[in-house]
Parts: sequence; structure tokens; C-alpha cells
Amino acid sequence: MGILEVKGVNKRFGGLQALGDVNLSVQENTVHAIIGPNGAGKSTLLNCLVGKLIPDSGSVSFDGQSVLGRSPFAINQMGISRVFQTPEIFSDLTVLENVMIPCFARRDGTFKLNGIRSVMSQNDMRAKAMAMLEDVNMADKATMHAAAMSRGDKRRLEMAMCLVQDPKMLLLDEPTAGMARADTNNTIDLLKEIKEKRNITIAIIEHDMHVVFSLAERITVLAQGTPLVEDTPENIKGHPKVQEAYLGGNH
Ligand SMILES: Nc1ncnc2c1ncn2[C@@H]1O[C@H](COP(=O)(O)OP(=O)(O)OP(=O)(O)O)[C@@H](O)[C@H]1O
Ligand SMILES: [Mg+2]
Repeated sequence: MGILEVKGVNKRFGGLQALGDVNLSVQENTVHAIIGPNGAGKSTLLNCLVGKLIPDSGSVSFDGQSVLGRSPFAINQMGISRVFQTPEIFSDLTVLENVMIPCFARRDGTFKLNGIRSVMSQNDMRAKAMAMLEDVNMADKATMHAAAMSRGDKRRLEMAMCLVQDPKMLLLDEPTAGMARADTNNTIDLLKEIKEKRNITIAIIEHDMHVVFSLAERITVLAQGTPLVEDTPENIKGHPKVQEAYLGGNH
């Protein structure tokens, strides 16, 4: 049984079947990639996992509990943090303030530092947010305005905003979209470090096969809203159906 279990999920938008009988099992402490062409239903699936969309039928459970019927905030509090396809940051705040914001949103008003649960003071929030910025190599930009950040920095900032919540699972929707190769490689290294340092499960939606094959331990290929195949990167690379449907024979 995986930490995330999706069973028989369907989602229609009017006459369009965006997701058709999707099953997905993500094992704890692994990196699971979801790939597929534009419009395959990847973001729709992610939205169903975090309460932004409600599936028409099927079940989604995280850590043994159903997420269906819960608000995005409640699901976030269960331990799922998500980096959106379009960055969602507060442009008029500083980088550090952005990372402090999710600390305010903790339902129990507590956080964990060095294994001790304590009520979170402003100073504690600042210290924790700063530590996260160090983790994503942005400590030197803490006092700068978020609006002034490059695309790559905004992505890293979003990751820090997720990590400050001590998530059990991180969902990333195209974290390297529009990045130059150097920034993409930095993101790969960063995600590897995050994975090494924390007990965390990562699900990543990604078009860049270099990123997918650098990080993923399992890959699910979606095509027209239905999983075509789920397998190891090695098997996916050689899978004729995948080559035909998505990799175009060039990878
Ligand atoms: N809110 C919506 N209303 C109507 N149709 C939608 C809605 N959201 C998505 N769709 C449609 O559902 C299908 C799946 O979209 P989705 O965004 O999940 O694809 P995707 O795999 O994430 O694509 P991309 O790689 O371009 O991000 C597409 O045909 C899209 O146009
Ligand atoms: Mg998408």
C-alpha cells in the first residue's frame, strides 16, 4: 500500500473526459514521476489530489485517510504540499516573509524544530524560514522583494514555502518549466538534496525527460486521461507504447 493511493478516478469537464479510471500508487519515500503529452490530464489529477478539484468518482487516500471532501487547506495539513504550475507567491513581500507565511497557517500553531514541538513565535518563524532558504540556496536573497526574483528563484522560493510546512509529500507540477539548462540542473540537485535530507515522498509532473530520468524511481505515463503504463525508468525508456505515444522515439 502506497502513501498515496488513487483508485478508479474519473473527472469530466462537460463533454471532455479529462481523467478516465485513473489508478496510481505512490510508495513512501520515493520519487514518482507522472509524464504525458499536453492535455493528458496531469494537472487535473494533481488538482484532484489536493482538493482543488473533486473527482466525479473514485477514491484518493493519503497516509491511510481519504482526502475527498476535504478542503485544500485541510489536505495541506495532512502533510501534502504542492508547487503549482504557475508560481503562487506574494510579490510585494520579501523572500523571507513569503517563507514565513505558511508558518502562520499551521492549524495547531506549532512547528517542529530539532525534534521539539513548540508554539511558534515570530522569531522561531523567522529562524525556521531562514533555515529553509539556506536549504534552497537562497539565504542571500532573504531581504529582497519576491517580485525581483528570476523564474528559477521563484521556483526555489516556492519549494522553501512548501518545506517550511514539514510535508510528508511534495507535489511538483512542472518545476523546471521555462528554466534554462543550468537552472534545471540546479533544481535536480536541489530535489536530490531534499530527498536525502528528509523523509519525504515526491510526485513530480515533468515534460523534461532529463529531469524525469535523473530523479524518478517510478514513472506513470498518462495519455488522454488514462495511465498507459507504470514502471521503472529503465523499462519506461524501452517501452514501445511509450516511445510511440510520448517520447517520439527520440529519447
Ligand atoms: N477547468 C477546466 N475546464 C474545462 N476543461 C479543462 C479544465 N482544466 C483542464 N481542462 C481540460 O482537461 C484536459 C486535461 O488538462 P490538464 O491541464 O490536466 O492537462 P496536462 O496534462 O496538465 O497538460 P499540460 O502538460 O499542458 O500542463 C485538457 O484537455 C484541458 O483543456
Ligand atoms: Mg499541466
